[in-house]
Amino acid sequence: MSHLQVGQAFPHESAALHVSGEARYIDDLPEPKGILYAAVGMSSQAHAGLKRVDLTRVREAAGVIAVMTAADIPGENHLGGALKDEPVFAVDKVEYLGQSIFAVAATSVEAARRAVLLAEIDYEGLPHNLDIRAAVAAQQFVLPTKTLERGAVKPAIEQAEYQLAGRFQLGGQEQFYLEGQIALALPQEDGQFLIHSSTQHPHHVQEVVATVLNRRQKDIVVECRRMGGGFGGKESQPSFFACVAGLLAQQTGQAVKYRVDRDDDILLTGKRHCFDICYRVGFDAQGLIQGIELDYAARCGISADLSGPVNDRSMFHADNAYFLENVAIVSYRCKTNSQSNTAFRGFGGPQGMMGIEYVIDEIARYLQRDALEVRQANFYGKAGVRDLTQYGMQVEDNIIPELVDELVERSQYRARRAAIRRFNQSHQWVKKGIALTPVKFGISFTATFLNQAGALIHIYNDGTVQLNHGGTEMGQGLFTKVAQVVAEELQIPMELIRCTASSTEKVPNASATAASSGSDLNGMAAQAAARTLKQRLLDFLAAHYQLPVSEIEFKVGRIMVGKKAELSFAELAHLAWFNRVSLSATGFYKTPKIHYDPLTMSGRPFYYFAYGAAVSEVEVDTLTGEYRVQQVDILHDVGESLNPALDLGQIEGGFVQGMGWLTTEELWWDQQGRLRTHAPSTYKIPVASDVPERFNIHLVDKKPNREATIYRSKAVGEPPLMLAMSVFFALKEAVESVGNYQHSSGLRAPATPEAVLMAIEALRAKVKS
Ligand code: MTE
Ligand code: HPA
Ligand code: MOS
Repeated sequence: MSHLQVGQAFPHESAALHVSGEARYIDDLPEPKGILYAAVGMSSQAHAGLKRVDLTRVREAAGVIAVMTAADIPGENHLGGALKDEPVFAVDKVEYLGQSIFAVAATSVEAARRAVLLAEIDYEGLPHNLDIRAAVAAQQFVLPTKTLERGAVKPAIEQAEYQLAGRFQLGGQEQFYLEGQIALALPQEDGQFLIHSSTQHPHHVQEVVATVLNRRQKDIVVECRRMGGGFGGKESQPSFFACVAGLLAQQTGQAVKYRVDRDDDILLTGKRHCFDICYRVGFDAQGLIQGIELDYAARCGISADLSGPVNDRSMFHADNAYFLENVAIVSYRCKTNSQSNTAFRGFGGPQGMMGIEYVIDEIARYLQRDALEVRQANFYGKAGVRDLTQYGMQVEDNIIPELVDELVERSQYRARRAAIRRFNQSHQWVKKGIALTPVKFGISFTATFLNQAGALIHIYNDGTVQLNHGGTEMGQGLFTKVAQVVAEELQIPMELIRCTASSTEKVPNASATAASSGSDLNGMAAQAAARTLKQRLLDFLAAHYQLPVSEIEFKVGRIMVGKKAELSFAELAHLAWFNRVSLSATGFYKTPKIHYDPLTMSGRPFYYFAYGAAVSEVEVDTLTGEYRVQQVDILHDVGESLNPALDLGQIEGGFVQGMGWLTTEELWWDQQGRLRTHAPSTYKIPVASDVPERFNIHLVDKKPNREATIYRSKAVGEPPLMLAMSVFFALKEAVESVGNYQHSSGLRAPATPEAVLMAIEALRAKVKS
C-alpha cells in the first residue's frame, strides 16, 4: 500500500524557523520581570576533602541575591538514579575537577559568574586517578563487574591454528550540542514550578527536581519545545541544571535561569566513555574466529549515571555483525576522578563494536589478507546457522552478507583497493587506505520497562489538530515523523497539524527520547490515539447519516460519506463537536516480544536490528600525519523510511559525528586532572570542510522491517554513527602501508594527525631495525 504522508520527504517541521533564527530555544524565551541568573562554584581540584568553604565574600558580592549549598537543599542532595551516588552540591569532598560545590543567583550573568570566583575554599588534597587500568588494579568501580560468556573459550583459543593478543585504547567524546545545557525555573502559585529544560527526558527532570526541592511530581511541570542537539548528553545530565535553577527559584521566589557557557558545560557534564580494550583471540587460516576473550574497561567518572546500561550495551555489541561461537566478555565500570560519563549516540555500542573490529583488522594484518574477507568469514549466518548472539537472541533478519555484497559492487571496493595498493607502491610520502565495516545495532532500550510511550491528540472544531507525545525534538525530526503518522491516519494534510512542546503535563512518566526508538515508540502511540479518534468519527458519521461505517471513506482532506455527503475535515470536526463527540484522545504503546534478564544478561533485549555498512577511502600525508577522507560510500537499512530526507540527514550527521569521535576529537586531562580540551579551540569537532569529498549514501531499497514497527520503518538515530569505523580502519591501513603491511601500527583512537604521525614514525623505526 502506498501512503501519501508517511514515506514522503517532508522538511523538518521547524526547518524554516531554524534557518531564519525564529525557532525559540530556552535562552530565547522572553525573560520575566525580576529574573535572576545562576552560576556554580566549581572545584579546582580533582580529588580533595573540603576543609573550609567560606562564602562570605560571595554573599557580599555585587548583585548576589541568594547562595545555595548542600546544607540549604530542602530535599535530597542527589541527582537521582538507583544509587543516589552523585550530589547536586559536593559535601565534605570533591571527586573531580569542575564539580559543583555551591550556586549563586544574581541580577546578571556577569555578576553571578564573578561572585562564584570569590569563594575561599581550603582543600585537603587526596590522590586522584583518571587511569582506567589503574582503577581496575585498585578495584575502583562505580558498579560491579559483569561477564558474559559462551562456549569453551580458553580451549577454543588455545587449540586454534593462530593466536593473537593485544590492547586497544579508545577515546571518549564530548556531545558538543550547539545549544548548551540550560534551565529556566519559574515559580508558580502554591509551591509549584514550571521548568523549561533542554532535555531528552522531561519526566526525569521532573522526578529529580521534585526530590531535590522536596516537592511532589504533581507540583513540577517540565517543558521542552526543542533542543539544539542532545546526542545523549541531555538524557540524564539536564537534571543538574534544572535543580540548580529550581533550588534558587524556590529560595528567592524569583524566576532563575541557569545557562552555562561552553567551557563550564564541558567541564561539568559527562561524555562518551573512554575504553581500554584487551583481547586474546584464536583463529584459523581464513581468519575465522575460534575463540575470543574481550576485556572492556570503561572510564565512568565519579558516579554510575547511565554507565550500567551503557556498558551493558557495549557487551551486547561486542559481536557487531559476527558470530562469536566461543566468547568471553568482561566489563569493568571504572570509577575515575572525572566528569560522570553518560549517554552518547550509540550508548556503548560503538565502543563494543570497535573492540571486535580492531581484533578483526589485526587478524587480517597477521594473515596478510583483505580485512573484508576476514569480516565476511565471520558474519552471522542465515536463520538456524550461526545465528545466535552471545546473549541468546536469534538474529532473525540478518541482511549483512547481501548488504555488504551490494556495497562492494556499488563502491567498486575491489578495484579501488587494488588501485590504492599500486598508488602506495609508487608514492613515497602520500599513502592511501580503504576499509569496509558493517554495523548491526540492536533497537530497544535494554531495560525493558523503558520501551513504552504515550501520545495525546486534540482535534479542534476548525479541523486543526494539536499533537503531543512523550518524545522530544532535538533536531532528529521526530516531531515531523510523528506528525506524518497522524496525517496518514486521519488523512489530512500536514499543515493542519501543530506539534506542541513536550511537557510532563500532557504525557506522564515518559521515557527518555533515546535508544533511537523515538519514532518507533511515539509513532505507535500517536497512531493509536489517531485511530481512536478516527473510529469515533466513523461511528459518529455512520449514526448521523444512517449508513454502515464501511461506506465512509477518508481521503486526503475529504471525507466521503457514501453517496450522502462529502465533507472537508474542518466540516467534519465542526459537525462532530456540535453533536458532542469527544475530539481528544490518548494513545499508548509498549514494544512487544522483548524480554531480558539482567542477571544472566540473556534474552531478547532488542525488538530488531538496524543494519548498514560503509566504505571509506583516506589519503595520509606521512610526513605530517594529516589526512583527508576522500570518498565514503554507505548503504544503510531504514526499513520502509518514514521520511527519506530526514533519514538521509541522520545518516550524514551520524557518520560525520562518528568520524569526529575516531579522528580529531580528543579529551585530554593534565596531571592535575584538569580537562584541557574544554573549548572549540582545543577540542576539534568536524566542520563542513571535513565532510568527505565524495559522500554517496544509499538506503537499502524498500525493505520493510520484518517486525510490525510503525509503517515497517526502522530506527535511524544512532546506527549510522558507527559506520564511521571504516574511516579509522582506512587510516590504520594507510599507516600500515608504511611498513608494507607487515606490522601492526597499534594506532589508537582518536587517530588525530598527531597519533597518526606517531604511529608512522614508530613503524618506520621498526622497519629500519
Ligand atoms: N540528531 C540530531 N540532529 N540531534 C540529536 O541530538 N541525537 C541522536 C539521534 N540523532 C540527535 C540526533 C541520538 S543519541 C538519539 S538516541 C536519537 O537521535 C534520538 O532520537 P530518535 O529516537 O527519535 O531517533
Ligand atoms: N539506550 C539509550 N538510553 C538508555 C538505554 C539504552 O539502551 N537504557 C537506558 N537509557
Ligand atoms: Mo541516544 S545516546 O540513546 O540519547
